[in-house]
This record gives sequence, C-alpha cells and structure tokens, in this order.
Amino acid sequence: MSSTVITGIGELVTNDPARAEQGGLLGLVRDAAVVVEGRRVAWVGPAADAPAADVQVDAGGRAVIPGFVDSHSHLVFAGDRAAEFEARMTGEPYTAGGIRTTVARTRAATDEQLTSHVARLVAEMRAQGTTSLEIKSGYGLTVHDEARSLAVARQFTDETTFLGAHVVPAGTTPEDYVDLVTGPMLAAAAPHARWIDVFCEEGAFGVDQARAILAAGSASGLRGRLHANQLTYGGGVRLACELGLVAVDHCTFLADDDVSALAASGTIATLLPGVEFSTRQPYPDARRLVDAGVRVALASDCNPGSCFTSSMALCIALAVREMRMSPAEALHAATAMGAAALDRDDVGVLAPGKAADLVLLDAPSYLHLAYRPGVPLVAGVWQAGRPVVSR
Ligand code: NIG
Ligand code: FE
Repeated sequence: MSSTVITGIGELVTNDPARAEQGGLLGLVRDAAVVVEGRRVAWVGPAADAPAADVQVDAGGRAVIPGFVDSHSHLVFAGDRAAEFEARMTGEPYTAGGIRTTVARTRAATDEQLTSHVARLVAEMRAQGTTSLEIKSGYGLTVHDEARSLAVARQFTDETTFLGAHVVPAGTTPEDYVDLVTGPMLAAAAPHARWIDVFCEEGAFGVDQARAILAAGSASGLRGRLHANQLTYGGGVRLACELGLVAVDHCTFLADDDVSALAASGTIATLLPGVEFSTRQPYPDARRLVDAGVRVALASDCNPGSCFTSSMALCIALAVREMRMSPAEALHAATAMGAAALDRDDVGVLAPGKAADLVLLDAPSYLHLAYRPGVPLVAGVWQAGRPVVSR
C-alpha cells in the first residue's frame, strides 16, 4: 500500500481528544505532518518527527483541517425556487407549503436527471471541503418516488435518510398519508436508507404523528432523526430527547425546557444557520446551548427552498458572527460533531486509523474560515486518502 506524507502544515486541526491538553478543543498541532496510507491516516505529529513515506507533499505552511461532515442535506430534487426566495426577500414568510412545488418537479424528473443533479451538488460540496454527507429523500412523497430518491442518494453516500414525512402531499388526508408512510412507503424505502426523519412542525406533522412514524421506522431497522422547532415553538425537540435520538435538527425556537432536555439527553442539536440567513428568521443562540452543556453540530441543510447553500464555510462564518460560537467551536461542530450526529467516529477526526479526509486551506489558520467570509479558501481535498480537489 503506498503512503504519502503531507508535511509543512503550519496549523493542523486534528479534533483528537487525546491532544486536547495542548491543542484545545481542536487538538491543534503546529508545524505538523500527516501520513496517509491507503484510505486511512497512519500517523499525525510534529513535522520534525514524521516517518518517511513513498510520496511527499508540502503544504507550504498552510492549515489543514478534517473534511467537513455535512449531516443534513436534501439534494434529491429537480427545479429551483429562486422566485420564492425573491418573494421572501421582499417580505413574504417561509412556509412548509413551498415543498410541494419541488415535489411536482421531482416527480416529473427521470432517474438520470435526478442522479446527475445530485452528482453536480456533491461535486460542488466536495470542492468546498465536504468529504462526508447525509442526503434525505422527501420530494417524492409517493412509494415509487421516495424509493427512487433514496436509491439515487445511495449512489453518493451510505448516510441516507427516508423523509417521506416531509409534508402531506395534495390529494390525500394526513391520516391516510401517515398510514402510507408507515406502511408501503417505509417498506419500499427501508432497503435504501439508514435513517428516518420527520418534519415535525405546524403545517407538516405533529408530535404524535412524528412519534408513530419514528416508531414504525425503528421497527424496520431505521434510526430516527427529526426536523423540529424550525418555524415555531413546539414539542419536537423534547420528543427527540425523550426517544434518545442521536440528533434533532434546526432548533431555532427553543424554550428553556427544550434546552434542558437537550443537555440531559445528549441528543445533538444540529443548527442550520444557512436557513435563518435565507429565510430572514432569527438565528438560534448557539452560545446558550453550548453554555448549557448541549452538544451542537452545524450542517448546510442544502435544499431548493429554505436554504440553497452547499457551503459549510458559510455556515461556520454565520455561526461565529450571528450565533455566538467561537471559531474553534464552529469548526468542531462542522466536523467532529457532524460525524457524531451521524453516529460516526471514523470521520471528522485526523488521528491514526481514521479516514484520510483532509482539507488544505489557502490560509495559515482555520480562523480564516470565519475571518474571510465568502472567500474560497479550499486549496486541496483528500477523500479516503485520494486527492480529489486541487487548485
Ligand atoms: O430543512 N424543513 C423542512 N425541510 C427543509 C426545507 C424544504 C424546502 O423548503 O423545500 C428544511 O428547511
Ligand atoms: Fe432539512
């Protein structure tokens, strides 16, 4: 197996808890090197101590971070909703109803069209440093269209999520639709999915419906996650905590009870600041959560409606500027905590035995991710030990 040593790394973010004493939350190592062997990291440490390898790459004093782990996206869709965005920016509120526009376009698209559209978005993400991602269904809302959406998503990631319970489609009642989602649709979706999700919100699904859908998913071997408290206060976050879900996403409108339930349960609050940016909603206060002991992740929520960004760097900049996270907390939330939100410990950390998913920044420090918002800083990406982006 051939090995590569990346040397001359001015600042290396490892996220390795074993390095916390000297390197803080991010396990920083200065003047570092990383040895990659096959798909994995073989060695991490000061460049002066680096072992020899078959190939040597010089980072030229720049920073290296773990690839971003984007734990929440909705990439399987057709069409866009730029006109809806324009209306929002001139005063219209965001509502769940816009999802139905994308459903009509998605149903009309061929498998090939959906696949090539997802491929384009995944490449866009990779070029910006995302090396692991989750993809949801949720714009098909028929047995056939949900199953094929997940089959498309599966070509790009193992972290696929069945979101048949996105909204109730036109022409059916909520009761009949929940029966469909928990019955034939779940049966068709389950072979292609690892997770099941529900949009628990006014205008979508209530807490009791979410509970029933998650229970049916669990009986079919799918693990639960939830969209909750995005547009209104409600019981979704508390349901996620009560069920011990690994993550609950959005968490924009949180009462004190929700915060204490999150802290007590260990359920990760995945914040999606691109949504607040793109809907002009108030940002969630990440500081309040972190200070209360809640585990926080950041993800893009890339979708055609509430937030059409694929940039984890933008999410980090917003979390720092608008949500009171420190730059270190925000980067950790976009990497190691994204991995935790997918119950993964093989990605999001650069340590021996972990996936060799690395991003070379055209900057001396990870701080530039928030300090230089909107600037494309990704100079190189290695995924599973292979260089996949370089510029
Ligand atoms: O996470 N909240 C529900 N689903 C997506 C938005 C979907 C859409 O607007 O098309 C979200 O924001
Ligand atoms: Fe979402």
